[in-house]
Amino acid sequence: MKSRISVIGAGNVGASLAQCLAVKNFADIVLLDIVEGLPQGKALDLQESAPVIGFDSIIKGTNSYEDTANSDVVIVTSGIGRKPGMSRDELIKINSGIVSEVTKNIVEYSPGCVIIIVTNPVDTMTYLALKTSGFPRNRVLGLSGVLDSARLSSFIASELNVPMTDVNSFVLGEHGQNMVVIPRLATVKGKPITKLLPQETIDKLIKRTINGGAEIVGLLKTGSAFYAPSAAAARMAEAIILDKKEILPCAAYLQGEYNISDVVIGVPVKLGKNGIEEIVDFKLTDEELTALKNSSEAVRALIKTLGNI
Ligand code: NAI
Ligand code: 2OP
Repeated sequence: MKSRISVIGAGNVGASLAQCLAVKNFADIVLLDIVEGLPQGKALDLQESAPVIGFDSIIKGTNSYEDTANSDVVIVTSGIGRKPGMSRDELIKINSGIVSEVTKNIVEYSPGCVIIIVTNPVDTMTYLALKTSGFPRNRVLGLSGVLDSARLSSFIASELNVPMTDVNSFVLGEHGQNMVVIPRLATVKGKPITKLLPQETIDKLIKRTINGGAEIVGLLKTGSAFYAPSAAAARMAEAIILDKKEILPCAAYLQGEYNISDVVIGVPVKLGKNGIEEIVDFKLTDEELTALKNSSEAVRALIKTLGNI
């Protein structure tokens, strides 16, 4: 029997994510939304692509959590996205209500699952889901660094005119303006970009990465990015379901690692069947640790606005 992944929210990210997961063919997928017909229609359409693409994952669209029961992984994409000029932080009021309601349903129907939060502001929403669920911290994480690193890697590959797959990046910190982009952690065939690009160009690429989400919002005008985000969330789910022990940057709850406590922030983690199997210590310099600490304080301030959870 295939593993089961439920995707909550059948909007742009949720539907693309269902497609990314389906074509990977390692899990059956349940797509849930509050809008009647929307997840059912998208699931049916996606299922009908199976004979063409050649996958046999079953995709079910639903408005009922009963259909999500006993999921191995549940990915939360429900919530509103940013409009032009709107910060991620402004989303917090509406999305915290949605995330806490959704989390309670996840706990009721899939008490043993790993939860991946996508909904923004993701570090804060991951903290909220962790506290609301009562799950151990290894089973609640958020999408941040896999997406931010993919953006940086794609910009580096374009700048140097090298294959995308030769580039590897690890972007840490908040998924937002306080993102921590450490150039020496971005490499081309193992060589740090600090040895390949002038500082001026590196600064330009870092700035573009930090504004990566806003750049897409500015172009789309009616919504935010979804192709790269859904690919990134699918990679996280794959690492968990297939127990790959892959080290990826994800939003995780820290308890003293990197000298940071009681906050969710993007750090390197090892992903396997138990979710976060290890928070990996990257041996950052004092300057880098300070940047990560400052980033975590920005998230902590946002978490405070949630009040008592
Ligand atoms: P969207 O508006 O296209 O889809 C959201 C869906 O959630 C809608 O279909 C809506 O009906 C559904 N929904 C709302 N309340 C619900 C509830 N209580 N239960 C179930 N479904 C519910 O938005 P999009 O573009 O898919 O983005 C979703 C969220 O993901 C946004 O908060 C966005 O900012 C965030 N995001 C986060 C990223 C990250 O890196 N962490 C990257 C991209 C998006
Ligand atoms: C992004 O970075 C909206 O957080 C989302 O594209």
